[in-house]
Amino acid sequence: MSGNTQVADRATAGLPQKGLRPRVLSGIQPTGIPHIGNYLGAMRHWAAEQEQYDSVFCVVDLHAITVPANHHPAELQDNIIGMAAALLAIGIDPQKSVLFIQSHIPAHAELSWILGCVTSLGWLNRMHQFKSKAGEDRENASAGLYTYPVLQAADILLYDADLVPVGDDQRQHIELTRDIAERFNERFGPTFIVPAPLIRESGARIMALDDPTAKMSKSHPEGAISLLDTPSAIKKKFARAVTDSERTITFSPERKGLYNLLTIYQLLAGGTDEAIEEHFAGKGYKELKAELTELLVAELAPIQQRYRDLVGDPAHPKQAKAALAPILLEGAARARPRAEATLARAKNAMGLG
Ligand code: AMP
Ligand code: TRP
Repeated sequence: MSGNTQVADRATAGLPQKGLRPRVLSGIQPTGIPHIGNYLGAMRHWAAEQEQYDSVFCVVDLHAITVPANHHPAELQDNIIGMAAALLAIGIDPQKSVLFIQSHIPAHAELSWILGCVTSLGWLNRMHQFKSKAGEDRENASAGLYTYPVLQAADILLYDADLVPVGDDQRQHIELTRDIAERFNERFGPTFIVPAPLIRESGARIMALDDPTAKMSKSHPEGAISLLDTPSAIKKKFARAVTDSERTITFSPERKGLYNLLTIYQLLAGGTDEAIEEHFAGKGYKELKAELTELLVAELAPIQQRYRDLVGDPAHPKQAKAALAPILLEGAARARPRAEATLARAKNAMGLG
């Protein structure tokens, strides 16, 4: 998709022109320190492509309250600030990108209601994430968890995003967002940009180190390396990472544990599959794991330093909040008019208000 095609599409649809750079929106839940799956699959690209795209990033706190067992009011505030600090630490520049907290912009909740009225129950019933998060006891899952993807669609459509850079686990939610936008546009006339997922070929699904058949996730910290892990914790986690009993180091997707480690290696070191295989010819897992540790420690050191500078003493989270508040207020001030303009367009198209 070229930027120019997008601009032409907008003009014919009577939608707002936004300049030549495609717009990107992504969100992350404030549910603790991100892991290297979040980083390599999504966040790193957000930071690297801020010049290329007109970028909007949002800490989705309203999504974080959909699972009551994980919602501790006293921790949520710190997690929101912690996630904003993590985004700044990995290189999101508030001068280049819009960075804000979802609940600061009421239009998200309002558009979510409206979109819920053009979303079929059948569509929501197919969502994998709901099924896995609700678990066995579906009757007791919250209505918010069920309509979670509708709120996500509102996040995306409010900012006229062309592209949504995410990990592979979000593919279905972006497809649903497209279905919702298309149905709305059919019923009420051209209103929303229909966004496309931006999912990388490599790194979009980093697997758990202790179980390479499951994706790395915040809910299973034993298999994950957090962006704030110490060098010795990183060394230990790679040392324990599941591999196999074969001797050669090659990129074979069937050798799941090794393939995951080589993918992480390639994302950090660069180079083709062949060059990496050649580099490790005659070497064993011990060398691979030692090099991985060294590369990741070096990648994370400046991020950890920036995080500490921003957050200060973790025992005094209020100081961090005070330090970040002006950045987040400014982000919300820039996001709000865009969101309100889209909401007004949608309400107008539907005959509301
Ligand atoms: P979340 O922490 O669930 O809000 O996810 C934030 C971003 O990280 C989303 O774009 C996810 O798709 C992505 N992500 C989460 N887990 C992984 C993983 N194991 N590998 C690659 N990307 C991931
Ligand atoms: N559901 C996403 C996740 O779990 C988070 C999210 C919420 C999001 N709103 C979004 C991602 C909008 C991309 C765009 O990772």
